[in-house]
Amino acid sequence: MTPAPEPRPILDLFKLYGRHAVVTGGAQGIGYEIAKGLAQAGARVTLADLNAEVGEPAAQALGGTFEVLDVTDAAAVAALAAKLPDVEILVNNAGIVRNLPAEDTEDDDWTAVMKVNLDGVFWCCREFGRSMLARGRGSIVSTASMSGLISNHPQPQVAYNVSKAGVIHLTRSLAGEWGARGVRVNCVSPGYTATPMTRRGLDTPEWRATWLGETPMGRLAEPFEIAPAVLYLASDASSFVTGHSLVVDGGYVCW
Ligand code: NAI
Repeated sequence: MTPAPEPRPILDLFKLYGRHAVVTGGAQGIGYEIAKGLAQAGARVTLADLNAEVGEPAAQALGGTFEVLDVTDAAAVAALAAKLPDVEILVNNAGIVRNLPAEDTEDDDWTAVMKVNLDGVFWCCREFGRSMLARGRGSIVSTASMSGLISNHPQPQVAYNVSKAGVIHLTRSLAGEWGARGVRVNCVSPGYTATPMTRRGLDTPEWRATWLGETPMGRLAEPFEIAPAVLYLASDASSFVTGHSLVVDGGYVCW
């Protein structure tokens, strides 16, 4: 059992001073905006990403640090977790998509997506989770997707959709295991968001029309609009929330 917290002024609950946050895939896009939001809330941030060329200056801009990391490399993830034993907030955000019809999805396509989007999330939860459990304190937030709840169209992306459904259920499984030990595990499930990942879709008239037409709010999210949801889940503002998938999709899943 974890002790109930003492009441505090409500805006103080969102402050992260003195906490170290790691954001995977934080060099650009949604991950960068999440890291920026956490830094503005007071956290010390480490961006962990494959892409050092973009990630180094991005980390500098936030007053944080950069670590090269391939989340699919379990040994590298373990080494980073050992190097940063004081991490209290882990954001699993690295992700890739392959838009292929199911019947043309080769073994390598399936495996590549699963390795980044699902295996990588588990390796990071397991390795950073150990030190959080030892300290009895930590918050993990993964970037899942509305694709874990619905199957997107018109573009095919079977491996991506399944990987994100896996992240949502991994979230629930770990929340159940670790809830009484002080470590909360949640995810955000964004809808279409304007980042390099969606550029191809926006340039494809049929995809763009469907994406906008099927979103009740009639637009894509800007990447900074995902960050407040992550801040809520990462901070003490959500002290009694665990195992949750917070959908941030302009209403897409309503239809
Ligand atoms: P992005 O492609 O702009 O950024 C992804 C970042 O992850 C890049 O910096 C890339 O270098 C890094 N990365 C890729 N593979 C990696 C690996 N093996 N190890 C470490 N870092 C790696 O993508 P975006 O759009 O910012 O997506 C971020 C997350 O949000 C992903 O998990 C994605 O699936 C999810 N998401 C994106 C949506 C969108 O519409 N853009 C909607 C819902 C979820």
